[in-house]
Amino acid sequence: MSEYKGAPALDAGLVAAAQAVEHYEIARYGTLIVWAEQLGMSEAAELLKTTLSEEELTDEALSALGESGVNERAMQQAA
Ligand SMILES: [Fe+2]
Repeated sequence: MSEYKGAPALDAGLVAAAQAVEHYEIARYGTLIVWAEQLGMSEAAELLKTTLSEEELTDEALSALGESGVNERAMQQAA
């Protein structure tokens, strides 16, 4: 990261890494919701659904950030 300090490629990499974390969380919450429902834990399932929705919104925000020019600037610098 220090080699890319201030570089557009670092921004693009950070967005990509953050989005990978969100995808992992979305997958895990999806599984936990199913398990909670199968165990009859409806209150827990609803709480998990709320959290899943928050993760999905963050994922969408990160996609928008990447598409807003972060990725393009990184590619321009590389060219
Ligand atoms: Fe998250």
